[in-house]
Amino acid sequence: MTVLVTGVAGFIGMHVAETLLARGESVLGIDNLNDYYDVNLKKARVARLDGMRGFRFVHADVSEADSLDEAVEGVPELDRIIHLAAQAGVRYSLKNPAAYVKANLIGQFNVMELARRLGDRLQHMVYASSSSVYGGNTKLPFAVGDPVDSPISLYAATKRADELMCYSYSDMFGVKATGLRFFSAYGPWGRPDMSAYIFTSKIIAGEPIPVFNYGEMSRDFTYVDDIVQGVVAALDRPPRVNEESTPHALFNLGNHKVEPLMRFIGLIESALGMRAVIDYQPIQPGDVKATYADVEASRRCLGYEPRTSIDTGIPKFVAWYKEYHGI
Ligand SMILES: NC(=O)c1ccc[n+]([C@@H]2O[C@H](COP(=O)([O-])OP(=O)(O)OC[C@H]3O[C@@H](n4cnc5c(N)ncnc54)[C@H](O)[C@@H]3O)[C@@H](O)[C@H]2O)c1
Repeated sequence: MTVLVTGVAGFIGMHVAETLLARGESVLGIDNLNDYYDVNLKKARVARLDGMRGFRFVHADVSEADSLDEAVEGVPELDRIIHLAAQAGVRYSLKNPAAYVKANLIGQFNVMELARRLGDRLQHMVYASSSSVYGGNTKLPFAVGDPVDSPISLYAATKRADELMCYSYSDMFGVKATGLRFFSAYGPWGRPDMSAYIFTSKIIAGEPIPVFNYGEMSRDFTYVDDIVQGVVAALDRPPRVNEESTPHALFNLGNHKVEPLMRFIGLIESALGMRAVIDYQPIQPGDVKATYADVEASRRCLGYEPRTSIDTGIPKFVAWYKEYHGI
């Protein structure tokens, strides 16, 4: 039995694959290793998995149907999919919207088609959505049942579209699928375009760090181990198939704690033993002021239990950053 993990060279993909391999699963990991951020970091993540028993990597692009099909050809035991490959990042969707349409819409479609073709062989398809689907909602915490019809970035719109497309495949073809709305993941092997990494590298370099909305931002920062626990718990619990309901589910994976951005920065400063130079700036288009996950349903249905506060998670991130960069 094999799990296909798309986006395996990515931040969350690597951690998810590592956890699956550690519990004895076979993992077919695919990634197109694009250069949205440092490709060496992606290669280093794959290299970390390469030595593990049960892992196989294929360089493939989910937005090219042939490439995806070739990657899974000859893997008859493939029975579950964790689809994480995407063009991530809110801000970059203002610069390069086409990348989002290709990776997040066409890519998602191709993976759904694969899931449909696998038929009864497929136990479950889990895929990444995002807290950004909540757009400018002001009701906190964000709950899965809240209206999500007002995305304020193309990134958010593609993630919401993924949820809707997948629902239709579950309804029409019985594809058992679960979408997970991740809330600001951070931790070792994190992404260079995300705040923890940007702040840490700039503080070390003595450069000013851009802080948007003049620091009046808060986020539900979620440590990567908690995200992975939620992904694997979801994988193990496919939606029930019955006459009355569509086998599709959505869950939030957050820490259920709103943290002011300035406290997050303060913890990075403490872990580094250095002070940040702050460059206050207005809010950026596409950015939301606050995120906060209602995780009640995730707790109840998945046994999801986030455990890591930023007080312990940030020092772990900074320790990894220093080790990785040889500082
Ligand atoms: N990290 C977060 O805080 C966060 C929050 C919300 C949602 N998400 C979603 O979770 C998923 C994983 O995010 P991440 O933080 O690990 O991002 P990441 O960018 O580190 O990982 C995504 C991986 O997908 C690969 N990829 C992109 N397009 C591809 C394609 N067409 N074919 C094959 N591979 C492709 C990239 O090379 C990358 O390695 C994404 O779907 C992202 O949108 C992440």
